Amino acid sequence: MVERLSEHDGAWPRGGLSPLARFPDAFVANVLGYGSERGKSWLQNLPGLVASAARRWHLEELLPLANLSFAYLLAGRLLAGRSNRGRVVAKFVCDRSALASELTWLRAQQGRGAVRLLAVAEDLGAYLMEKVVPARPATALDETAATETIAHQISRLGGLPAPQSELPSISTWFADLQVLATERLATVDQAAIRRAESIASALMVPRRDERLLHGDLHHDNVLAGADGWLVIDPKGVTGDPVHECAAMLRNRLDDISPLDLPTTLRTRVRTLAEVTAFDSVRIAAWGYAQTVLSCAWAAQAGQDRDVERGLAVAEALLPLID
Ligand SMILES: Nc1ncnc2c1ncn2[C@@H]1O[C@H](COP(=O)(O)OP(=O)(O)O)[C@@H](O)[C@H]1O
Ligand SMILES: [Mg+2]
Repeated sequence: MVERLSEHDGAWPRGGLSPLARFPDAFVANVLGYGSERGKSWLQNLPGLVASAARRWHLEELLPLANLSFAYLLAGRLLAGRSNRGRVVAKFVCDRSALASELTWLRAQQGRGAVRLLAVAEDLGAYLMEKVVPARPATALDETAATETIAHQISRLGGLPAPQSELPSISTWFADLQVLATERLATVDQAAIRRAESIASALMVPRRDERLLHGDLHHDNVLAGADGWLVIDPKGVTGDPVHECAAMLRNRLDDISPLDLPTTLRTRVRTLAEVTAFDSVRIAAWGYAQTVLSCAWAAQAGQDRDVERGLAVAEALLPLID
């Protein structure tokens, strides 16, 4: 049985529908919002890309996974007689340079604490990986266990040396802040942007000291496998290894009341510091800078609710830095 069925009512592909109508609305809206022309042509080609991949990799019983955001993922099986236990996930990505960085990270990690890469089809913008089973995400754990689990994953991944191949450095992400600050995006607090910019530039390490980073190590990207936790969905960037703590700090806070935010974040920072042996002020400082940068990205995409929530998180991290 495939673990995660989509809201769709049958195996893919279904006949008789236009390609766009086969995909969940939220997924289509995300992809089109991201770069409408490029996104649209990718969505139109996607059924063909999936069919080609299914033939090339001998896949059957393909079903889309639930909760698709920007990438298209299907679970399936390798045809009988192929290697491993047969359960696989195929991932299709619109942005080819993002895909290249994702693959660089997965190849470098070689399955250590991360999902195992099985095959790549650069021409189809897709790769095949082992299916994590049962794939319960760290999101399903309580607050304390989730933080400990992610902190252990950060330690386990170990910040490998940055590979020779070109990967974006997180310094290129933070360079965006200068642009966003001058664009004066109305919804983002300009003082927060300037503070984040100066904090990030003080934290940046020289290129020679940069490590390979996952870049998006939050609760939904850490899944329980049969033999332990496995990380999926890397951005694949380079930078200060402490930055790896930033993604989880600002994630899964929807259920926390504004009054409890400071305590929750203080506890997360303390646990991350204890498990990883990173400096707690540095962890909180990266958390602040990355949270404000994410707000600026959200503002650019018109996601005002995310901006508001993000700025509250950033505000709650400030006392941990001073
Ligand atoms: N190898 C896998 N095994 C099982 N489930 C997976 C696997 N890869 C992805 N998923 C599921 O699909 C979801 C989306 O995949 P992900 O690569 O994280 O893309 P996104 O960019 O949308 O976050 C994940 O949160 C997870 O629930
Ligand atoms: Mg993900």
